[in-house]
Amino acid sequence: MARPHVRKRMELSPPRGTRDFFPEEMRLRNWLFDHFRETARLFAFEEYDAPVLESLDLFTRKAGEEIVGQIYHFEDKGGRAVALRPEMTPSLARLVLQKGGSLALPVRWFSIPQCWRYERMTRGRKREHYQWNMDIFGVEGATAEAELLAAVTTFLSRLGLGPEDVGIKVSSRKVLQGVLGRLGVTDDRFEAVCILVDKLEKVPRDVIEKDMAALGLGADVIDRIVATMSLQSLDELQDVLGADHEAVRELQELFSLAQGYGYERWLQFDASVVRGLAYYTGIVFEAFDRGATLRAICGGGRYDRLLSTFGGTDVPACGFGFGDVVIVELLKDKGLLPDTTRSIDDFVFAFDSAQRTAATQVAAALRGAGRSVELVLEERKVKWAFKRADRLGAARVVMVAPEEWQRGEVRVKDLATGEETNLKLEDLEQ
Ligand code: HAM
Repeated sequence: MARPHVRKRMELSPPRGTRDFFPEEMRLRNWLFDHFRETARLFAFEEYDAPVLESLDLFTRKAGEEIVGQIYHFEDKGGRAVALRPEMTPSLARLVLQKGGSLALPVRWFSIPQCWRYERMTRGRKREHYQWNMDIFGVEGATAEAELLAAVTTFLSRLGLGPEDVGIKVSSRKVLQGVLGRLGVTDDRFEAVCILVDKLEKVPRDVIEKDMAALGLGADVIDRIVATMSLQSLDELQDVLGADHEAVRELQELFSLAQGYGYERWLQFDASVVRGLAYYTGIVFEAFDRGATLRAICGGGRYDRLLSTFGGTDVPACGFGFGDVVIVELLKDKGLLPDTTRSIDDFVFAFDSAQRTAATQVAAALRGAGRSVELVLEERKVKWAFKRADRLGAARVVMVAPEEWQRGEVRVKDLATGEETNLKLEDLEQ
């Protein structure tokens, strides 16, 4: 017997590694973004945006960065190679270059872009994430990095986290540059070496050694690099590089500014931080959870030479990216997630269909006064209305009933106190 044709149910999950945001998740996301935005406002940063789709060549750089292998890219209908941005910094550089000399420096800009990376998924790493970016163009020296780290710690404090929960490891690429310079490693290999060094903790040493050898570096150089990477204090660094070395001076300045801001307890010097992106040139930093169970919370640093790689004139620059995934995991672990249950101001309900027009008038007046109002749009019983009002977290139920309405009044129940009163329309709006 022929079976009736049943259409196969469509896959309802979003693509692997991506997220749907139902209203309850959206409330949490908005709460987080509000804190990103409010922190940026406190530091007088202006918001910008750019398309999520960019030319692929904006992101394909020469060095073997992990991020380049993770790009989502395709050919558009016009045959152009395009990509979903894996990070915001190249787009920001493009925007800054577009404005050229007309831009009043310093630029202090922020954004909350969605970024796409075909990552191997672990806790806190997805294939799309939102990334709060704050960047400063036009300031040389550690004052800009110090200001950015003040924003990071201000943000974390607002969420209820302290230096006992989150640490920020700080170093400078100039540390490695200094050591390599003494070992006779030329500058043209610097970016590639940084990327390999960043992998030291994640990839077996013999693999790194092979890649280093391909760059012309011997095992003795790797030994020196590993020894330098294990430095944990500025005093030790000073012993190795000398008090006058640029890296030492910049880092000392940063730590002394941190004391002025009052966030020095969050910071620690750690020479093993080099960051996996090729373009960093100076101070680099990464925030981590002190429980050591999560991936990096945020990361950034100085990239003074990015603009010239796009054919422009360099402007000193630094910034950071702060993802929306790891921080929520950390807040969960610490019991610091906010209460995001829904709430509205008024639930307006017509007793019967004869009051429907009156109810629209009441709802319109309340909305005009800035209150959030759900108006019942169908015929419903009182019991249903109260149940729903409760579920929506309404502060008041406003009933439009025939007798009261004839007197120009409505019946109002305060759901917190249970108190019921009759109010005139004009008294309702406060
Ligand atoms: P990044 O270290 O690649 O830096 O990413 C910054 C932050 O974005 C990470 O610390 C993490 O919070 C978040 N993140 C990165 N990938 C993922 C992922 N797959 N899933 C969830 N979260 C992720 C940059 O992107 C630089 N462009 C930051 C920057 C801005 N440097 C200067 N200005």
